[in-house]
Amino acid sequence: MRVILQAVFGLHQGERYQRLEKLLKARLDMVASPLASTLIFFPALQRDWGPWSPGHKIRGIATATDDLLFEEIRERRAHPDPDRTDILSLLLMAQDETGQGLSDPELRDELMTLLVAGHETTATAMAWALYWSHYLPQVQTQLRRELAANPSSDPMALTKLPYLSAVCNETLRIYPVGMLTFARRVERPLQLQGYSLEPGEVVMGCIYLLHRREDLYPHATKFRPERFLERQYSAFEFMPFGAGARRCIGAALATTEMKIVLATLLQEFDLALLTRRPVEPQRRGITLGMRGEVDFLLRSVQAPNAKVVAPGAAG
Ligand code: HEM
Repeated sequence: MRVILQAVFGLHQGERYQRLEKLLKARLDMVASPLASTLIFFPALQRDWGPWSPGHKIRGIATATDDLLFEEIRERRAHPDPDRTDILSLLLMAQDETGQGLSDPELRDELMTLLVAGHETTATAMAWALYWSHYLPQVQTQLRRELAANPSSDPMALTKLPYLSAVCNETLRIYPVGMLTFARRVERPLQLQGYSLEPGEVVMGCIYLLHRREDLYPHATKFRPERFLERQYSAFEFMPFGAGARRCIGAALATTEMKIVLATLLQEFDLALLTRRPVEPQRRGITLGMRGEVDFLLRSVQAPNAKVVAPGAAG
């Protein structure tokens, strides 16, 4: 959450950010369980039907979040700083071909999209990467070997490590956090794999099924990072971030974040997976999360006897 707040606003400290963090968490929790996520698919349930309805709670959280975002936008407009490179600063400077900038509600919409799309997805992908690298000891050994052989004080150097990249790719392949692409509406008659599609029809790509094709991914149910070292997959074969003009705008941020966080945790902590059962995927809102909690024991490598920080949930 703090990484995305930092990317979007440039900082994440202070009372306003703490309040924003809490509100975003409450908003995401409202659609996290499979039952509650029906809210997303039935907009009528999102309406405010009175103090006890889920819609009433959603409205309350949305209004409070809007207030904070509009406060921030007002303050930034009043004190523009051309040296800042965070996303809000860039959006404030953006103009269309007629010199028109974004209105406050447009800015609010852009910020909310990035905060919501950028947090849970990446956090879930990192939780899966941690799980796989500790559930399969050979994966962890191989990762640790690569990290030990490539010491560097530059975190960006981590993003180039082949096995670490393969582990992150395999994590996003086997249980893609975004199971489906967003919907596309057919513009003109189209033949696709024997299906006739007519204008106005809506099509969604199923990333999950694509990533399970045995012809592309032999033993597709097995977590095997090596497959990404043995062959190069095209953008039509591996698409954890969707495809085409509407491909995920946060793909580079998410993969960079995943690699740096996973490598840093392995370098600085000694984690033991306490959950013995294989962890199954479960739909969480529109993402594919983990069924149940996944517990780790976490010890600092520098001071192994200093403090036991966990068990904590990675799901
Ligand atoms: C591992 C993490 C992530 C995964 C698996 C993921 C996956 C996806 C997928 C599958 C789509 C649909 C693309 C399509 O329909 O072709 C999408 C869209 C999008 N994602 Fe992500 N995403 C992740 C992280 C992020 C982050 C960090 C951000 C923001 C910084 C972000 C912002 C967006 C936005 C704004 C869209 C809509 C793009 C558009 O419609 O033009 N995502 N993402």
